[in-house]
Amino acid sequence: MNRDLQALLDAALDAARRAGSIEALEAARVRFAGSKGLVKAALARIKEQPAGERAAYGRDANAVRDGVEAAFAERKAALAGAAPAEAGPWIDWTLPGVTPRVGRAHPLTQTIRDIAEIFSHLGFSVARGPEVEDEFHNFDALNIPPGHVARDPDNNFTLKNGQLLRSQTSTIQIRAMQRRRPPLRVLGPGRVYRPDTVDATHHFMFHQIEGLMVDEGVTFVDLKAVLALFLTEYFGKAVRFRLRPHYFPFTEPSAELDVLWSKAGGAVGRAQEAPAGARWLEMLGCGMVHPKVFEAVGIDAEQYRGFAFGMGVERLTMLRHGIGDIRHFHVNDARFLRQF
Ligand code: DAH
Repeated sequence: MNRDLQALLDAALDAARRAGSIEALEAARVRFAGSKGLVKAALARIKEQPAGERAAYGRDANAVRDGVEAAFAERKAALAGAAPAEAGPWIDWTLPGVTPRVGRAHPLTQTIRDIAEIFSHLGFSVARGPEVEDEFHNFDALNIPPGHVARDPDNNFTLKNGQLLRSQTSTIQIRAMQRRRPPLRVLGPGRVYRPDTVDATHHFMFHQIEGLMVDEGVTFVDLKAVLALFLTEYFGKAVRFRLRPHYFPFTEPSAELDVLWSKAGGAVGRAQEAPAGARWLEMLGCGMVHPKVFEAVGIDAEQYRGFAFGMGVERLTMLRHGIGDIRHFHVNDARFLRQF
């Protein structure tokens, strides 16, 4: 391009870029692109060019005019859209934003909330209890006699003052019945503590959810129906389960509930053919509240009946998500936690 035209273009672009206000820009525009401006003058010089250069000069001069006009228009749009300089640093609204990291509930908390939600539809409300407990709530009132293996100091975190870290959420049953008279429908989630050696399926602190219903005329059929509804909601389909007789001091009769489970497909549906290799997996303990328990909290065992159940939250969460090691829950590795 002709040196003079190139210099004119550069000067015009520079002036447009430097203009810090609409007014300054307009003054510069008039100087370069106005009807008596420098670009007009350059165009007027087309006819002064030697014949051999005239065509090229003319083409370049027109290009300079277009370029200068475009530069001023663009700068004008930018100045019109930008916030006044006093308002702070200039922000490019078109840049991709910085997405804030949104936190989420821990997978165990999610399980507890999901289960509480399911039971809330059956009239159960959530109750809590202290993690530092006394022997009455953790053992005596639950008909766990002196000398029972569950009371062995080696099986508990005993405190100097004779209290202990609760070893089961069944304590919440006792506290709920001391606080309120029947009819009662209570769900008691919480942390429990046992000095187990930590491995893939054991931890010295874990979570349980206790359930308790007390009313006149409550029977084992009610227990089975409530648990069946719970399993259906939790697994998203009616599943194959069985109640297997078991012993718990605080219920009579007592049972453990097993769900038929296949490694590949999880809980086996009720109408489904059992896949090869499916096996019974223990989900929870349950039973009818023992009369001795009612006696301990001053509820008339002739008038009232109740059922109770208790389940491990880590285990239910591991089954649900296919998690192979309980320790993942408690090391706070965000790469693990972010997956849920
Ligand atoms: N507390 C029992 C445990 O920690 C679980 C349990 C079993 C709770 C049966 C209950 C029940 O309420 O009825 O192993």
